Amino acid sequence: MATRIKIFDTTLRDGEQSPGCSMNLQEKLEVAQQLEKLKIDVIEAGFAIASPGDFVSVSEIAKVIKNATVASLCRAVEKDIDRAYEAVKYAVSPRIHTFLATSPIHMKYKLKMTEDEILERTGHMVAYAKKYCPDVEFSAEDASRSDKPFLAKVFARAIKNGATVINVPDTVGYSSPEEMAEFITYLKNNVDDIEKAEISVHCHNDLGLAVSNTLASIKAGATQVECTINGIGERAGNASLEEVVMNLHTRKDYYDAECAVDTKQIHRASRLIQTITGVPVAPSKAIVGDNAFAHEAGIHQHGVLMERSTYEIMTPQDIGIPQNKIVLGKHSGRHAFDDRLTELGYSLTKQELDDAFERFKDLADKKKIISDGDLDALIAMKLETAEQHFKLENFVINSGSKITATSTVSLIANDEIIEKVSGGDGPVDASYKAINIILGKHIELEDYSIRAATEGEDALGEVIVKINMDGRKTIGRASSTDIIEASILAYLNGVNKLWA
Ligand code: KIV
Ligand code: ZN
Repeated sequence: MATRIKIFDTTLRDGEQSPGCSMNLQEKLEVAQQLEKLKIDVIEAGFAIASPGDFVSVSEIAKVIKNATVASLCRAVEKDIDRAYEAVKYAVSPRIHTFLATSPIHMKYKLKMTEDEILERTGHMVAYAKKYCPDVEFSAEDASRSDKPFLAKVFARAIKNGATVINVPDTVGYSSPEEMAEFITYLKNNVDDIEKAEISVHCHNDLGLAVSNTLASIKAGATQVECTINGIGERAGNASLEEVVMNLHTRKDYYDAECAVDTKQIHRASRLIQTITGVPVAPSKAIVGDNAFAHEAGIHQHGVLMERSTYEIMTPQDIGIPQNKIVLGKHSGRHAFDDRLTELGYSLTKQELDDAFERFKDLADKKKIISDGDLDALIAMKLETAEQHFKLENFVINSGSKITATSTVSLIANDEIIEKVSGGDGPVDASYKAINIILGKHIELEDYSIRAATEGEDALGEVIVKINMDGRKTIGRASSTDIIEASILAYLNGVNKLWA
């Protein structure tokens, strides 16, 4: 019988830790709900002690998730463990995930602890966590650069004190597939009572081997794997969840292993993370890149037309790319709209559906055909509803190839209309400068990207900005058929988030 592999998702912890990928509470809840739809086994919701915001998001996620274990990371220190349990205690199935480094480099320079001290701390802290929670995961940070016999002793100590999962992180992405497999085999043969715990791996992608290392570990006997949507994470990221899962799905014959993930939710999960973080995946990215299922070469197209399996090992439907090309428009009714959203995998509340339908009608006045991409953008707008301290009332642009662009922007704040004008290096820059004058702030625009949500001249333009106001950074996003309007609204979305 195929081995059941548990998927542990750390998009909301390790993924969110990566530069430019921070999310607010509403966004984290949206991601957690999508992870539940994916049928993830364990959701690592955050690092509860890291900040009050992290604590709140872990506890709010713990309250809403019903079908997955919810974990919080914590150092192997009492006050961290207290805080982690305080946050996950609301979960139907809570887990405390505690970690301590075991490599000579980390022990000597970071922890300044001896092997004996590490062993003792491991036992104490696992036992301390166990008093709160029956499910305790212990990670030996930098395990892949640790001395194997010492690591075996550390894991044995963790198991003796109640660890239910022992995790082998390749923290700096240093290992190779053969080495990871040897590591797992060694642990299986040398850790006392190893059968009492689940063996897990957590691979980083510094040398581009995170997915290969994860799969080699599964082959050698790991039964839990830690990964993130789109592979986001510290530095070069973590093992990409969609790649690991689709390897298991497509090559069940080779791995003789399976997981519970509903692969049809992968496309949506990937799009959601791209929308929220503003970090797009490369077109050639396996599984979720725009070109992952595009056959350009004539010989390939011919082959696929004759028999799909000539060049296609998975289908777009497998990961939930909608195939039914029904398009909506001005005359589409509420029923067709609701049906299409359900088909795209959205399950919205009545209020969210009402709001989205209103936005749909506005858009249908401007655009003849509303495609699936437009609907994705419309739904993403619900993530843009930060409390609107500043609302756009109006803008007027004067721009051309031989004149300096100027923008007059009117904002509503506290029921008052404030209008300012500024010149700038193009209409977007001029508008942003006018907004800065209204706010009396110097806001730094760190990144700006625009993409068409769909094909065609009347496509919705989706703008994502990264801004820095007084050292606090955030992402703002907005869509409109007018790209200057989308640019201004995205900027204001960021400003409103920071103001709140
Ligand atoms: O990379 C790592 O070592 C980690 C652990 C804390 C699990 O993220
Ligand atoms: Zn990590």
